[in-house]
Amino acid sequence: MNKYPVWFDCDTGVDDAIALMALHTLEEIDLIGISAVCGNALLDDTFFNTHRVCGLIGASYPIYRGADKPLYGEPHVSTAFHGHNGLGDVELPIPDSAVMHDAPAWDALHAAALQHPGELRLIATGPLTNIAVALTKYPDLASLLHTILIMGGSASVGNVTPAAEFNIYIDPHAAQIVFKSGVPIVMCGLDVTLKAVLTPDDWDELAATGSKAGAFTKACLQPAWRMLQAMGFAGVPMHDACPVLYLVHPELFSVEEAGVYVETHGTITQGKTVTDLYSDKQFEKKNAKVVLDVDRDRFIEILKACIRRLP
Ligand code: BDR
Ligand code: CA
Repeated sequence: MNKYPVWFDCDTGVDDAIALMALHTLEEIDLIGISAVCGNALLDDTFFNTHRVCGLIGASYPIYRGADKPLYGEPHVSTAFHGHNGLGDVELPIPDSAVMHDAPAWDALHAAALQHPGELRLIATGPLTNIAVALTKYPDLASLLHTILIMGGSASVGNVTPAAEFNIYIDPHAAQIVFKSGVPIVMCGLDVTLKAVLTPDDWDELAATGSKAGAFTKACLQPAWRMLQAMGFAGVPMHDACPVLYLVHPELFSVEEAGVYVETHGTITQGKTVTDLYSDKQFEKKNAKVVLDVDRDRFIEILKACIRRLP
């Protein structure tokens, strides 16, 4: 079987954690390295949380520290969804085997891209700061990457503001650099990710297997569930697992090509991913595949099968 070399840039984060667990189990994926960025929590938390999740599932990947704040402005963490520590208030130990690498995220990502020219799939599930720094510092990186699969943005609603999705809102300038980079982009925004919900029945089933990963999945989602249940949701969206499963199972998703650019200066629209999907006026270039829908039941079955494979 041909495996996809993958780099994972994340702000772990409960759904980043679940995406990482899926990445680890998918046999089509060769996970080369991971970088952490501040987003859902401060960088120290997202970086060590990534180690903690790897420790939980017995995985060891090189993990690099990235940006501790957006290109402009200060961090803006998301405790209501991700708890006070980014892992839904679940306390996990940092594994003794955790290795601290000196190279920053952008240098490590570039080195990995040089080793897999034209092949490396970059999955980004946090603010795009690390990727923007890498693309700016290394002008050859854009032509070395195969695809950037992003959880971020929306062609319709926002979540952190009426217009904007969290990952893009936190660092719209970084997102604009990425969308203008020329690298083929797959945008898994809220249009699709809000449909990819894991329900209480699903996490009860996973927890009932008795595995650490199943118990963690249920426990870490409880702060988010308290918030979303009150808003009328049927479960917790698996935002960050969407680009992971898209890479391996694109047949589950509906996609449209579009021009996508980011509002960086709007007073009420900052961080909006503006698409030309439904407009008369079209942008000059279709720079992204915008993922709009998913077969939710198949998606959740595959995601649960991934988690069932873990200790
Ligand atoms: C995105 O923001 C974070 O809260 C999640 O981890 C996901 O990446 C959803 O808007
Ligand atoms: Ca995330």
